[in-house]
Amino acid sequence: MAGIYVHIPFCKKRCTYCDFHFSTTFSTYREKLIQAICRELSLRSSELTNVPIQSLYFGGGTPSLLTAEELRSIVHSARLNYQLLEHAEITFEVNPEDANVDNLKAWKDVGINRLSIGLQSFQASDLSWMNRSHSTDEGEMAVRMAQEQGFDNISIDLIYGLPDLSNEQWLHHLERALQLNVQHISAYCLTIESKTALEHFVNNGKLKRPTEDQQGEQFDLLVRTLKQAGFEQYEISNFAKDQKYARHNSSYWNFTSYVGVGPSAHSFNGNQRRWNIANNSKYYQQVGKDDDWFEEETLSPTEKWNEFFLTGLRTKWGVLNENIEDLGGMTADEHKLLTTYVETGFIFEEVDRLVLTEKGKLQADGIASAFFRLD
Ligand SMILES: C[S@@+](CC[C@H](N)C(=O)[O-])C[C@H]1O[C@@H](n2cnc3c(N)ncnc32)[C@H](O)[C@@H]1O
Ligand code: SF4
Repeated sequence: MAGIYVHIPFCKKRCTYCDFHFSTTFSTYREKLIQAICRELSLRSSELTNVPIQSLYFGGGTPSLLTAEELRSIVHSARLNYQLLEHAEITFEVNPEDANVDNLKAWKDVGINRLSIGLQSFQASDLSWMNRSHSTDEGEMAVRMAQEQGFDNISIDLIYGLPDLSNEQWLHHLERALQLNVQHISAYCLTIESKTALEHFVNNGKLKRPTEDQQGEQFDLLVRTLKQAGFEQYEISNFAKDQKYARHNSSYWNFTSYVGVGPSAHSFNGNQRRWNIANNSKYYQQVGKDDDWFEEETLSPTEKWNEFFLTGLRTKWGVLNENIEDLGGMTADEHKLLTTYVETGFIFEEVDRLVLTEKGKLQADGIASAFFRLD
C-alpha cells in the first residue's frame, strides 16, 4: 500500500501565521504548473509500479482554488499512472469561501470522497488578525453545504492557543465544532513561525504572545471535550469518530511509502526522503528536464530511530518493538529511561509496542526527544 500527495501552491491571501509553500500571484503560470504536476505524476510512476494506492491527498496552499478542469486533469493523471484502489481515500483541502454548490458537485463528480475544511476559529476577531478570507458563518456554511451534497467524511481544522483566546472561548469553539457533526477534527496548537506576519505582530506587541500554560490548558480541554463527545485521539492533533482516521496522514505516521508531487512536496520510500524545490517557476520549468528540482537523502539508522520515536509516540499505534529490534534494540540507558517513564505513568508497554498514556500525551515531544540518539 502507498499514498500520493499533491501540493497545490496557490493561495488567495497570505494568512499571518502560515509558512507553508504557496504564492498569491500565480494566474500567469497556473496552467504550466498543473501540467508540470501531471508530468511529475507520470515520470515517477515507476516508483510505485504494482503498488496499490490507498490514498490521494490534495494539500496546499489551497487546492480548492483549482478549476474543475484542472482538478480533473490531475486526478486523471493519477489514475492513469498509478493503481488507485477503487475505494481509495481522495482528500481535498478546502478553504471555506470556495465551498459552493457548483464546486462541491464538481469535486464529488471527480471522485473526491473526503474534505478537510480549514475553519481555524469561530471568532470573527481571530479570523481578522489571521487575514483569513472567510467569515465564521461561511466556515459553518461550508460544512453544512458539503453535508447536503452528500460528503460523509469531513474533517475540520482548528487552531488553539491563540493570542487572547480564553479557555471559555476555546470551549465554545469546540462546542460549535461538535454541533457540525463532522467525522474528524484536526486541532493544532498555534506555532509562531519565524518571518511570518504573526511573529512581527507578537514582537511589536500588536498581538499577545500565548503562554505555554494557556496552550497546555487548552490542549487538555480539547482532549477531554472531544473524548466525551465520542472522538478518539489517534494522533496528538487528530481526532476521529468511528475510526474515520485520515488514511493519508496515517501513512506518514506508520512509515508507509508515498510519492509527493508539486513544488515543496515531500516523498518517502521506506529508506529515503525526497523533497521538491519550493519555487514554483523553477519547478514547472525543470520537471522532466534535469534533476535540479528535488533533493533526496537516505535516512541513517539514527535518523530512523529518532523518527520512530518522534512520529510513533504521537500516535495510538506507538513505537513497534519490531522497529526497535531492527535497529539493534535499546541500550541499557534507554531501557532505564523507558522503565522510569513506565513507572511514572507516561508510557504504557503493550505486547508489541510502546504507547503514550493520557498523561504522556501532554508531553509527547519531550518524551520522544529523551529517546533521541546522536549520530
Ligand atoms: C497547510 S494548511 C492548508 C489548509 C488550507 N489552505 C487552509 O488554510 O485552510 C493546513 C493547516 O495547518 C494549520 N496551520 C498552518 N500554520 C499553522 C501554524 N503556524 N500554527 C498552527 N497551525 C497551523 C491550519 O490549521 C491549516 O488549516
Ligand atoms: S493557511 Fe492555508 S490559505 Fe492561509 S496561507 Fe497557509 S495555505 Fe494559504
